Amino acid sequence: MINNMRETIEKAAEAIKGGGIVGIPTETVYGLGANAFNGDAVSAIFAAKGRPQDNPLIVHVDGVIMARQLGIFNKNAEALAKSFWPGPLTLVVKSTGAVPSVVNCGLETIALRMPDCDIALSLISAAGVPIAAPSANKSGSPSPTSAAHVQKDFGNQFLIIDGGECDIGIESTVIDITSSIPVILRPGAVTKDMIESSIGAVQSVNALEPNTHKSPASPGMKYRHYAPLARVTVVEGDASSTIEAIKYLYDKTMKKGGNPLVMASRENKRHYGQRDVLITGGKDNAAETAKNLYSLLRKADDMSYTHIYFEAVPKAGVGYAVMNRIYKAAAYNIVKV
Ligand code: TXA
Ligand code: MG
Repeated sequence: MINNMRETIEKAAEAIKGGGIVGIPTETVYGLGANAFNGDAVSAIFAAKGRPQDNPLIVHVDGVIMARQLGIFNKNAEALAKSFWPGPLTLVVKSTGAVPSVVNCGLETIALRMPDCDIALSLISAAGVPIAAPSANKSGSPSPTSAAHVQKDFGNQFLIIDGGECDIGIESTVIDITSSIPVILRPGAVTKDMIESSIGAVQSVNALEPNTHKSPASPGMKYRHYAPLARVTVVEGDASSTIEAIKYLYDKTMKKGGNPLVMASRENKRHYGQRDVLITGGKDNAAETAKNLYSLLRKADDMSYTHIYFEAVPKAGVGYAVMNRIYKAAAYNIVKV
């Protein structure tokens, strides 16, 4: 770690200890963090984000020892932490009651994650406290995958640690392991198959359907999320029909005076001719699309596009999480061809 970064981390640790909030890189997306034991500091996060008061935060820890002070670690928790921490897996476990209720919105459970990011881990260790942190975006807009994204949403309200671009690009998998059959509440880079190879069968909420329940298992699932200003349409089907449909929709939007954009795989770009295209990633590389996704949505807004036509990716592996996020960004505006 360069000296400069050490100093920045020390400054950030002081801010956290003093009850402030800090923009923090992680391997998934940037977080907006505060001392999880300080209710006022955590409230300031909700205020800054404009986050609904009933959407609990993830608490970031530097290891299982810290985690066990906050949550009751059953056999599945121990096994999953061993297999996937540090990494993009958040464990919802019974709370020990150590954090104030503003963190978990008074629930009996708490969401815990050890990020796979040296800067974040050094900060937690230097501050000596667990850090409650939601994604560092204004509520409803795409999560930030660079320090510049955080700055765009919040300006210079607080210190932002610049750790470069996030490796994974979408938020962690969230799994509730308080029941005998665990339930994946939010898909991410740690997939159902990976989890099942560690602890056996688990369930998953249907992450590709709008959540219409009054009280969803994961409160965050009910809000419109990840959305850019441009209207997003997801087009899915076989490759040639998808391309034809996107070209048709794009040209129609152009004629009406809109400013359309295609988000397509690297392989398909050439089929769109002179139309504006941003590349999401390789055709069969959902991890690359995940990494680029939010940054592309933000870029489309920066470039004042009014409509985005997005080529669906296969729903296998990380692709399932990518489709969960883009469906939400599209408010389930999906064209099947
Ligand atoms: O990758 C990530 O998870 C990022 C980075 C910063 O770690 N954080 C993140 O936080 O995405 P946020 O606040 O944007 O999403 C947290 C999700 C929400 O859907 C929330 O409802 C859910 O976790 N959650 C938190 N505590 C919970 C609990 N006790 N039970 C069920 N769901 C919970
Ligand atoms: Mg978020």
